Amino acid sequence: MAIPKTTHATAPGKFILFGEHAVVYGEPALAAPLQSLRAHASVSDERTENHRGLFLTSEDISLRCHYRDLIPTHPLAATIRRALQTVGSSDPPHAHLRLTSTIPMAAGLGSSAATAAAVAQALARFLQRELSAKQLSTLVFEVEKLQHGRPSGIDNTVITHEQPVFFSKGKKTEILKIKRPLSFVLADSGERSSTKETVANVRERYHAHQKVYQACFEEMGTIARAARTALADGKSKRLGELMQRNHVLLQEIGVSSSSLDRLANAAMRAGAAGAKLSGAGIGGHIVAHVIRGQIDHAVSELKAAGARSVFLTELTTTSHDF
Ligand code: PMV
Repeated sequence: MAIPKTTHATAPGKFILFGEHAVVYGEPALAAPLQSLRAHASVSDERTENHRGLFLTSEDISLRCHYRDLIPTHPLAATIRRALQTVGSSDPPHAHLRLTSTIPMAAGLGSSAATAAAVAQALARFLQRELSAKQLSTLVFEVEKLQHGRPSGIDNTVITHEQPVFFSKGKKTEILKIKRPLSFVLADSGERSSTKETVANVRERYHAHQKVYQACFEEMGTIARAARTALADGKSKRLGELMQRNHVLLQEIGVSSSSLDRLANAAMRAGAAGAKLSGAGIGGHIVAHVIRGQIDHAVSELKAAGARSVFLTELTTTSHDF
């Protein structure tokens, strides 16, 4: 009996530390992978279904169907189509693609980009190809365009390169220099939002109040550049102050919410150096920079303030470049 062939791939979630929204308007932003939250995909020729072609299952999103039955604009259909194009394959393999993810959806943690990256790479590997980080990043960006309209490209970049990055649209991405590991706590407001809608609403307001919004975005860019220096110098207090100011600017462009503000305030009460919303906003997560000795206190304050879940991540530089 032939041994079943199975390939796997995984991709991390991400959080944006500085510069969300401004990055869409050409300013720099800082983001890092979340290694503990991941999307996993496997492709197997094991016959678990009586089917021909590519069969898909994902318990997380209650999906059980054939690739050919998905509408072409479905993100999974777009991912598979582009993965096949990239490896030069005209037809999907006769196989079973399984998808699981621990990244909450619509919560600002890059769930859609990580899912696309894991699916595309697992499929490429099944077809005996390995997509480079650059190929994968381009592919995920194209899929993100279908979902988000005009994404800046930060999600696909950080997720496929799995490094903390300083990102500006159309410029070479830099790996962040981080003098010493720094702790961050992420807290979930429990509210979900659509990045596409939030970005479109910001754009509408930007056109109505161009001067005010332009000034906010430029200041967010200045903050992102200052944060890059603070990370390279290991200046925790400075980093926290920059997060505080970035949050105020995000409030000014109308993407915070009472839950996000409540969580950011709770983190500050617990002694965080700084706290801000992370990602598109209106819902999703806040990120707080907390020194080691104060993490437990911050976690309990955040839970008391209504956080759906709280987790810790450490920002460190990994050595290889791209
Ligand atoms: O939905 P998120 O958390 O991945 O937010 C995306 C970040 C934005 O700057 C709001 C949009 C973008 O394309 O960069």
